[in-house]
Amino acid sequence: MLFKFPPGFLWGSSISSYQVEGGNIYSDWSFWEKENKLTPANEACRHYSLYPADFSLASDLGHNSLRLSLEWARICPEEGAFSQKEIRHYSDVIKELRNRGLAPILTLHHFTNPIWFSKKGGWLTSKSIDYFLAYVRKAGELFKSQVNYWIVFNEPVVYIYNGFIKGLWPPGYKCFKKAETALKNITKSYILAYKELKRICGRDDCKISIAKHIRIFSPCPHYNLGQNSPPCYLRNKIFNYSLIEMLLKAGTLDFLSLNYYCKEYDKFNFSLFGKECKENHHRERKNTLGWYIYPQGLYEILMRLKSYQLPIMITENGTSESEDKLYEDFLFKHLKAVALALKQGVKVTGYMWWSLLDNFEWDKGFSPRFGLLKVNYNDFKREIKPFSLFYKRICQNNGIDI
Ligand code: BGC
Repeated sequence: MLFKFPPGFLWGSSISSYQVEGGNIYSDWSFWEKENKLTPANEACRHYSLYPADFSLASDLGHNSLRLSLEWARICPEEGAFSQKEIRHYSDVIKELRNRGLAPILTLHHFTNPIWFSKKGGWLTSKSIDYFLAYVRKAGELFKSQVNYWIVFNEPVVYIYNGFIKGLWPPGYKCFKKAETALKNITKSYILAYKELKRICGRDDCKISIAKHIRIFSPCPHYNLGQNSPPCYLRNKIFNYSLIEMLLKAGTLDFLSLNYYCKEYDKFNFSLFGKECKENHHRERKNTLGWYIYPQGLYEILMRLKSYQLPIMITENGTSESEDKLYEDFLFKHLKAVALALKQGVKVTGYMWWSLLDNFEWDKGFSPRFGLLKVNYNDFKREIKPFSLFYKRICQNNGIDI
């Protein structure tokens, strides 16, 4: 049976500047890579110069939208200074997207900060709010008439967890107190950025949100946990829903932007952090990163988000696999979950595959392969993966056989 998605459904994929552009020498991640001897992003996918060809490929794949991000450190390489060259660059990027009929979904912060900002204390100082707002205002003025969907921050809780609790990402802290301060400043920045963008854009169809990573937390069934069951519900609340609820209360979400990938099993433990069961006794298949693939989880999350009564855009969903048929299977099952949720009255307005390109996967370097397009890192040629043609048919039909 062919299931039709609602008219005007947004079909596309997502990218983020640092992960694809290359040459981002003013960003704190480039400093961090050197300090920690990690695989450097270097030229990444050379998207900074190849973006017109990449957008043409996205359009050939049936996309009608693309989620992308601006690199704050390019636009503001020094405190108080805006680079005219980079402003021209991103203006061209948005123009090239729109010329191909691709609606831009614009992220302003996707895990990276300018080096100067980090040196001034980054998100730990209250001045971070003013610094960030100056950049938001600039972006708003530049793109107010061309962008309808704004995502101010990508996955702040993931960013804080990796950068301030696990110490895996810059600024590399392992400190709850600092994590709390940074989250407070980011939340305040978001609320003010929302108001500023609304004022600058001055249009009803300018929709603003925060991309929220939501994971299914499940107690590991292998242990008979009984009353010692790990507090999954608490993790669920803290990591998945508390920020959304706070921003809803503040009246600062126009739609929900959902990033969903996998399920996590928790071992016996009352700790909230890092107690995932890594043993090999779970039913679900794992992808190349060891993540449990659980399409039903997307349906469960959408049903829960329904209660917030806002339109929902899936702004990231994807996987890294060793075989093409596993990508297709993942895509099919997750879209089937979306179709089921739509049938239950959940208002899903778009689906973005993560990612358009194989790309730089942060501390994991280049080995994960999330792209619709395979990137050859020797000559930067792109190749369409077979499962992308399956996705293309779905986008073009605005429907899927389920
Ligand atoms: C992040 C991306 C990342 C992807 C796969 C998402 O949570 O937003 O930057 O590449 O996960 O790990």
